[in-house]
Amino acid sequence: MDTLLLQTLNTIQRDMTDHYRDRHHNYHTAVFANCTASTPKLRTVVIRHIDFDTNQIQFHTDIRSPKCSEIQSSNLAALLFYDTHEKIQLRLSVAASIEHQNAITQNRWQQMSRQSKRCYLSQYPPGHTLSEPMTHLPSQSESSSPTDQMGEHGYQHFAIITCHIKTIDYLQLNSNGHQRALFTWNIDKQVEGKWIAP
Ligand SMILES: Cc1cc2nc3c(=O)[nH]c(=O)nc-3n(C[C@H](O)[C@H](O)[C@H](O)COP(=O)(O)O)c2cc1C
Repeated sequence: MDTLLLQTLNTIQRDMTDHYRDRHHNYHTAVFANCTASTPKLRTVVIRHIDFDTNQIQFHTDIRSPKCSEIQSSNLAALLFYDTHEKIQLRLSVAASIEHQNAITQNRWQQMSRQSKRCYLSQYPPGHTLSEPMTHLPSQSESSSPTDQMGEHGYQHFAIITCHIKTIDYLQLNSNGHQRALFTWNIDKQVEGKWIAP
């Protein structure tokens, strides 16, 4: 890989790692896409962890959401980021896997605020038909944070989706000419990069 490609990859990895925790930065959220037999599915998610040593990106979800059963049928997935300030689009091809009720979720759950745990208290699965719009969280928690006991109930629904990065398609828009590069990790986790037409 040439020096400029390597610098570009290092910059992508540094910027994503530095900024995903910042809720005002574009890299705090991404569009996660997966495949079903009938249609592609897209949704916005909050990025919770990035580690380029293991090439993994994680977000949290409710194990009852349709995307979890869909991922169990097909782990082919993608993440889309767009940094509006730098005009950089990143399209990541990933393999998705689910952590649920194991040491990884237990550890993460312990680090989460009560307020974050509150999202997992609904008695209704995401996508369930409701007669009227409402939060459907237990009444004691609607105006306050859940107690520890209620939080433990939420833990049953808490899952982490890990996205194992296979490729990064980088596009930087520039009035003097756009730049695009494709980085691919082989089976031995070695990365190859090349410039491609925008
Ligand atoms: C800004 C924003 C952030 C979101 N973050 C998450 C998230 O981190 N995890 C998640 O499962 N859903 C998140 N959602 C909701 C999803 O976009 C989606 O509506 C929900 O997960 C149901 O998706 P599914 O039916 O495809 O499973 C977020 C939505 C928005 C608008």
